[in-house]
Amino acid sequence: MLPLFINRCQIALTALSFPPIYLLLLLLLYYVAFQIQQLKSEFGWGSAVNVNNIHDSAHHAYQKFFYDTFEWAVLENALKWPALEGSKVGTSYITLFNSINLSCRIKVRGHNIFWGGGNKIPRWQKSMSGAELKSVLEKHIQDMTKTFKGKFQHWDVENENIHLHYYEDILHDPDITQWMFRETHRLDPHTKCYLNDYSVVSSRLSTLAYLDQALKFKAAGVPVGGMGIQSHLGKNPDLTIIKKRLDEVAKAGYPIWITELDINESDENKKSKNYEDVMRLYFSHPAVHGVMFWGFWDGRHWRPSAALANGDHVTPNAAGRKVQNLLQKAWRTNETRDIQHGQKLHIRAFKGNYKLLVHHNGNMIHSQNFSLNSNGNSLNINLSGSGEYTQIFVAL
Ligand SMILES: *[C@@H]1O[C@H](CO)[C@@H](O)[C@H](O)[C@H]1NC(C)=O
Ligand SMILES: *[C@@H]1O[C@H](CO)[C@@H](O)[C@H](O)[C@H]1NC(C)=O
Ligand SMILES: *[C@@H]1O[C@H](CO)[C@@H](O)[C@H](O)[C@H]1NC(C)=O
Ligand SMILES: *[C@@H]1O[C@H](CO)[C@@H](O)[C@H](O)[C@H]1NC(C)=O
Ligand SMILES: *[C@@H]1O[C@H](CO)[C@@H](O)[C@H](O)[C@H]1NC(C)=O
Repeated sequence: MLPLFINRCQIALTALSFPPIYLLLLLLLYYVAFQIQQLKSEFGWGSAVNVNNIHDSAHHAYQKFFYDTFEWAVLENALKWPALEGSKVGTSYITLFNSINLSCRIKVRGHNIFWGGGNKIPRWQKSMSGAELKSVLEKHIQDMTKTFKGKFQHWDVENENIHLHYYEDILHDPDITQWMFRETHRLDPHTKCYLNDYSVVSSRLSTLAYLDQALKFKAAGVPVGGMGIQSHLGKNPDLTIIKKRLDEVAKAGYPIWITELDINESDENKKSKNYEDVMRLYFSHPAVHGVMFWGFWDGRHWRPSAALANGDHVTPNAAGRKVQNLLQKAWRTNETRDIQHGQKLHIRAFKGNYKLLVHHNGNMIHSQNFSLNSNGNSLNINLSGSGEYTQIFVAL
């Protein structure tokens, strides 16, 4: 498999300045232990969650699996327009707003503002057209961006738009989706506006159409923040073909998120291997910045065989244990090294947020947080009291 090279950077620890001569003898035996412990991954790993299960205290096991495993969430269905305003315009958004009670350490994708399929829109909209329809679209963007301002990192603005074009057809406006992106961005400029589509890597049907759409939006100056690729896969996915399709989509130059990963494989050992291979491919691809699973529990999954955990106790199966191991152990850096005065230390570490702890004789003498990203980083650590001045270089 591909090495996970791009996800790691080097940290060099060096004791820089020399103490006065009279301290030198003492320092010959002096060493400190540096522990770097990763708190968060720069690459986004997350899952769709059901709004009731993630909120209701009766679903403790569901919540535990989620929080033990992931750092990003997307509400599976709760934000879709028919769910918000199923029977009539103007149902309050506040109930839903209050029920989103994810821990503040979880980042959230907003899915979705529009979904332009004839059977995906609220039923009361079917009789509308022209200016009347356009004005409810405008109002919906205002409601969503106002209610959820600052809550989401991404908006899926118009879901599955290379397949579904209800609003384009009814309004006789082929560029209505571009207008949706511009309006959403104008009203909520800090949330990135995403395209999100299917059959992009899971089949060849839509790969080039998706690239074409992105290039067209780019040429028109539409504020696209990234491209979501759903990735609902069958058993034994062909990695070579998926990579080739990803490379095609990446030509648009936008960040890519895998937004709805699942693999419909009921043999849990095969499923474990399939997930690991696909996760490794996505994690290794320079254009991919995050991967969202489309659910994890067989009690709440559109493809129960794809789940990572089963039954009333949300017990991780082989695939779930594999995913937890990769995300919480194998692809995280947690290292402790002893360093003597003047010695150099090199650690390759996964990108993300870190806690640095410095111990001497079993006592913690210094702690601080730092982050490691592609731009590199350089920290000056002054171990006050020890007379020692140590510099940490963080570089590519
Ligand atoms: C949200 O979660 C916090 C902490 O877990 C809890 O104290 C609070 O009651 C929850 N709020 C709701 C509306 O459930
Ligand atoms: C998942 O696979 C099973 C057979 O293993 C099949 O019956 C089912 O239709 C598939 N589900 C989806 C949503 O593709
Ligand atoms: C990090 O490693 C230390 C031992 O060096 C261990 O005690 C600790 O549990 C580890 N933490 C995590 C989050 O793996
Ligand atoms: C480091 O980050 C953790 C987790 O976000 C936080 O609890 C802690 O207070 C931070 N420590 C410092 C020294 O800023
Ligand atoms: C390190 O901290 C000590 C004590 O606070 C201070 O006297 C010294 O100037 C600092 N050294 C550097 C290089 O910042």
